Amino acid sequence: MITRIDVLNQIDQAVELLREGELIGLPTETVYGLAADASNPDAVRAIFRLKGRPANHPVIIHLARVDQLGQWAEITDPRVKLIADQFWPGPLTLVLPKLAHVDEQITGGQQTIAIRIPAHPVAHKILSQFGGGLAAPSANRFGRISPTLAAHVRDEFGADLALVVDGGDCELGLESTILSLVAEPELLRPGVVTVETIEHALGEPVQLSNRLGQRASGMLERHYSPTTAALLVESADIDSLLRLPKYQHRRVGLLKISANSVSCQQLVTLPNEPLGYGQQLYNRLRELDQAQLDYIIIEQPPISSQWAAVNDRLRRATVKPG
Ligand code: TXA
Ligand code: MG
Repeated sequence: MITRIDVLNQIDQAVELLREGELIGLPTETVYGLAADASNPDAVRAIFRLKGRPANHPVIIHLARVDQLGQWAEITDPRVKLIADQFWPGPLTLVLPKLAHVDEQITGGQQTIAIRIPAHPVAHKILSQFGGGLAAPSANRFGRISPTLAAHVRDEFGADLALVVDGGDCELGLESTILSLVAEPELLRPGVVTVETIEHALGEPVQLSNRLGQRASGMLERHYSPTTAALLVESADIDSLLRLPKYQHRRVGLLKISANSVSCQQLVTLPNEPLGYGQQLYNRLRELDQAQLDYIIIEQPPISSQWAAVNDRLRRATVKPG
């Protein structure tokens, strides 16, 4: 059990470590981040090294308050205020033109910067006590599943981190929605904040990104992946797939939403609604990934805007059956 005193001690310790240029595991409402002082180039370099992340994949800057935004980005577009008022603090990241002083290490060499104000009370406390910006990608090795528990971060980075602040199970469990306002509004990564809600706030359409595989690492076709081969399969095809010689006598895990039960090594049922599903997805995928299976089969959830974030992550975590 985490007590209030533990958390307060961890917050003080976290701020001290960040000021010394150390990296920490930071809880947010989406996923855990690997955080460092964004104004310390050595500390930012250490994030890339530890994650094994290529230098051209930019990281998000996390802030405590909207009034700090102007220290990092150009905020002349009136749409910035509309978005900030409606969605911050919360699970939305804005990509804006960067100010000249911002280290290009953070932005992967681009002239734009991604910024988010998280809503998690512990992240907020750390950010306000620290005072500056924190660079924080998700706290997983490059291409792997994002962590939604402090234990996941410890498993992944163990002794390499001076502190993983325990903020409990992430409330949302999927990474933030990324919206670019560099030119016309463009959705770079779907998240719990849906494109319809953003369009409603802006009063104009938002383009869906067609820049797959480019600079944003979450945009790579294969990402958020377990090490076990994972397949995304329509409900109606699961039975017949499992009867194929290729899958018989193999250890198969099934991540499903429907009530239909099939016989396999490990059966995990997730809630049949997108918020509950998204909250548990990464945790359950990690469990399946550690169960020494030959295959993880994932039942295709409904295709709808409410499920867009879940479907985006599933598509990148899996291959088509073949
Ligand atoms: O929910 C989240 O966003 C979590 C928590 C920790 O805040 N962070 C997160 O960071 O998911 P990361 O680094 O795993 O994913 C950030 C995504 C990457 O796909 C990155 O390429 C993209 O944001 N990104 C960062 N800066 C960008 C920029 N200037 N232009 C376009 N994409 C950018
Ligand atoms: Mg990530």
